[in-house]
Amino acid sequence: METVTSVVEMMRAAGSLRREGRTIALVPTMGALHEGHLSLIREANARADVVVVSVFVNPTQFGPLEDFDTYQRDIERDSRLAQVAGCDIIFAPGVDDMYPAGSVTRVCVSDLTGKLCGAFRPGHFDGVCTVVAKLLNIVRPHLAVFGQKDGQQAVVVERMVRDLDMGVEIIRSKTVREPDGLAMSSRNANLSGVERREAAVLYRSIEHAVSLYRAGERSVERIMSEMRDMIEAGETTNIQYLAAVDAVTLEDVDELREGVMLALAVFVGNTRLIDNVIIGA
Ligand code: PAF
Repeated sequence: METVTSVVEMMRAAGSLRREGRTIALVPTMGALHEGHLSLIREANARADVVVVSVFVNPTQFGPLEDFDTYQRDIERDSRLAQVAGCDIIFAPGVDDMYPAGSVTRVCVSDLTGKLCGAFRPGHFDGVCTVVAKLLNIVRPHLAVFGQKDGQQAVVVERMVRDLDMGVEIIRSKTVREPDGLAMSSRNANLSGVERREAAVLYRSIEHAVSLYRAGERSVERIMSEMRDMIEAGETTNIQYLAAVDAVTLEDVDELREGVMLALAVFVGNTRLIDNVIIGA
């Protein structure tokens, strides 16, 4: 496995791979790799000749009060894990290389980004779209793999790629969960013992909603009220949002049906966790 730390070098390497006729898959990450990321890398490995994993803690997607400074960074550990999962090239550029002085262009996907997480993290998706657009331009992959756990991110990236004719296939990979259902996330490491136990209620409440749906309940209001009661029973859990939206347009819906994404963001202690499922997916 090779490690590339410069944007120009990465463009060169990707250019030669393309000229050799090799298919390239990109897995964009911010490092702190866990089993969820490794499943994205395996998926990429099954679909392309060469897998590039980018490791870049992107400053433009963090708000001023968010955890940019304390985000876990351990490139050696990440490289080891990525290699075992089937990564061929780690791309780990520096902030100054990705955002040289005078860099002012931002990619903004309107409408889809003002709701759900975007409503509470102003500018977050502009930062995500800008860095993903840059990574796609640098690596020029045939496909890029994103996790369903960041459901809104996947929708927004898919829309950006379509709207800007970026010519890359976006693959969504299913959420990997701990045995108690908690979606894998780099931020799970920040939970205390009691918080970790209580965090399992996020997915339990989603599973409960799906079982109500399967039993014939369609009212989002009634389903959300039961989810809210379950989550609020915890001592460390505070709901930021619960939403039922069309999984493509992200418009709110009143009735559950196939193709609706049930999504939530909950603070467990000081750690903000998100999760979602798409009904019928
Ligand atoms: O999902 C993430 O880890 C990040 O938002 C991404 C896609 C790597 C962009 O920085």
